[in-house]
Amino acid sequence: MRLCMWMLLLPVLAAAADDKIARGAEVYRTSCGVTYCHGPEGRAGRAPGLAGRSFAPGDIVRTATTGIPNTSMPGFAALLKSEDIQAVAAYIVSLNGGGPAAVSRPAADVPADAQKGRALFFDAARTGACGACHEVGARGVLVSAGLQDLAAARLQDFRQVPTPAVVTARPSGEPAFPAVVAEKAADRIRVYDLSSRLPVLRTFAPAEVVLTPGSSWTHTAAASLYTDAELEAISRYLRWSAGR
Ligand code: HEC
Repeated sequence: MRLCMWMLLLPVLAAAADDKIARGAEVYRTSCGVTYCHGPEGRAGRAPGLAGRSFAPGDIVRTATTGIPNTSMPGFAALLKSEDIQAVAAYIVSLNGGGPAAVSRPAADVPADAQKGRALFFDAARTGACGACHEVGARGVLVSAGLQDLAAARLQDFRQVPTPAVVTARPSGEPAFPAVVAEKAADRIRVYDLSSRLPVLRTFAPAEVVLTPGSSWTHTAAASLYTDAELEAISRYLRWSAGR
């Protein structure tokens, strides 16, 4: 059970052979896909879902080697043969529709002038692409609002968007960090930690963390990964997807 999270985050090889994917599916099924962790077929268990996400290889390697502190994601370096880790990575990529190459391939239903923005939105080569936090058309990660039905005014300047949902989390004995609350239950609080470019889902007992409104986090950091021309292309894609 403890193996589950790490394997998923391992090096993403876009050109994976089918037998490797089959082997990866088997390793995933036995080590990663238990419902407690990443869920069958990459859907979310208690840990973040992995299908439809764009992982940058460098982050994946780092995460897989060391695990994520204060989360239930262990490091797998000492636990799995590297070929099995590679196989699982190939499998995860296949769940994501073939990885970077597939996202940059035109999608049949997306008009030509929105294709470029779509590829940029889900750009797997960019750590912290829009799709790392937002969902459009059931693809991407829902840290923040899905961007499907936004008013046109919100689709203009991605550097200036208001972020009322971002709070400050202060875990006892640890530095504070900007967070988006994913779940508040009687026995646990789950938040996305926005202090790294790829948001990390962390779980606390209610007594272990204090959440206060407001944060110094701004959306500028996320948007500054792109040039003005690229943001304009993304805006065209989002407007198309919102029917505007
Ligand atoms: C690191 C996570 C992250 C990344 C990456 C990111 N965003 Fe956001 N985005 C947020 C958060 C958090 C909010 C604020 C949500 C809130 O407070 O309601 C937000 C809000 C928005 C909003 C306003 C939504 C609304 O309902 O008003 C838009 C539009 C948006 N983002 C577009 C983008 C685009 C386009 C990109 C890529 C250029 C991007 N975001 C990248 C986290 C992210």
